[in-house]
Amino acid sequence: MKNVKIVEVGLRDGLQNETTQLSVEQRYDLYDKLVRAGVKNIEIGAFVSPKWVPQMALTAELCAMVLPEGEKVKSKVQATVLVPNEQGMLQAIEAGVKEVAIFAACSESFSQKNINCSIDESFERFVPVMKLAKEFKIKVRGYLSTCFGCPFEGKVSEAKVVSLVKKMHKLGCYEISVGDTIGVANAAQVESLFKKLKKVVPVNKLAGHFHDTRGQALANILAAYNVGIRTFDSSIGGLGGCPYAPGAAGNVATEDVIYMFDGMKVKTGLKLDQLIDTHRWLQPLMDHQLSSKVGRVGRLKPIGKVQ
Ligand code: HMG
Ligand code: MG
Repeated sequence: MKNVKIVEVGLRDGLQNETTQLSVEQRYDLYDKLVRAGVKNIEIGAFVSPKWVPQMALTAELCAMVLPEGEKVKSKVQATVLVPNEQGMLQAIEAGVKEVAIFAACSESFSQKNINCSIDESFERFVPVMKLAKEFKIKVRGYLSTCFGCPFEGKVSEAKVVSLVKKMHKLGCYEISVGDTIGVANAAQVESLFKKLKKVVPVNKLAGHFHDTRGQALANILAAYNVGIRTFDSSIGGLGGCPYAPGAAGNVATEDVIYMFDGMKVKTGLKLDQLIDTHRWLQPLMDHQLSSKVGRVGRLKPIGKVQ
């Protein structure tokens, strides 16, 4: 049987762009339900400026609940937090996190809007982060945003993405998540870009991160899967988006991805029924309808033969 790795990002990429601010206890309950549904890789928050992204405030408190003393190392769940700079990294170390994610963009305008610096400056900020990661034995995942298009500049060249993915790999990221931040990619574009990326970075170090703004995310995942990508990010219910990417919808919904891979007999380790239950628990807490179609309608339940 074939396998894929799913990285659940609802607690970070999802909640960061919701107007509803869940309490730390509700965030923990969501974490707990996701882990019970089989999630093994989960991004739980971000050590970014709370003035920029208030939804991610209190990530340290959530870490204290998720990573109890003594269980930090032996836990089978890999909990990650997003960090933009040394200040965020120091908070992650203090919180006892064993994996962080750094993030850069492929377009200058998005980089400025999102983190208030150029692409080159963002890589300079990663130098002390990587040094601390080495010292404290913390794994580092890398994100690249706007790989398929930028909300400000439009088209982004494949050559630019390829060179930045190489740069992140060289920096020491164990995995690089290639982001369609505004959900603008199509399957042909995905196939073309990943074929080029595979030539410069080992395929098992690449991941796909697809927002579903135009309803293309599942098709894009399938296109990436067909060229050998085996790690995908997704968000329970299809929560969220990026607060600095105007018009971007949430990530592809975890339930929808698992429904597709279950049907293809590709093992994910996640349990669809528990994900659907989690969607139904989460729905009344949010102020809009969650976008996941599978979460909403569930599995097929035959009504019975028509006589
Ligand atoms: P800045 O204003 O340029 O930073 O923000 P600064 O160094 O000049 O510091 C200004 C203030 O921020 C100071 O506080 C610092 O202490 C504080 P003040 O003196 O004004 O009270 N500060 C911090 N506070 C908490 N944590 C920190 C931190 N660093 C500085 N780490 C900064 C620069 C990066 C902090 C800011 O731009 C920021 O926080 N941006 C948020 C970006 C963000 O979270 N975006 C969403 C996530 S990325 C995403 O969604 C894309 C992704 O999903 C992939 C995809 O879909 O493509 C990953
Ligand atoms: Mg994202």
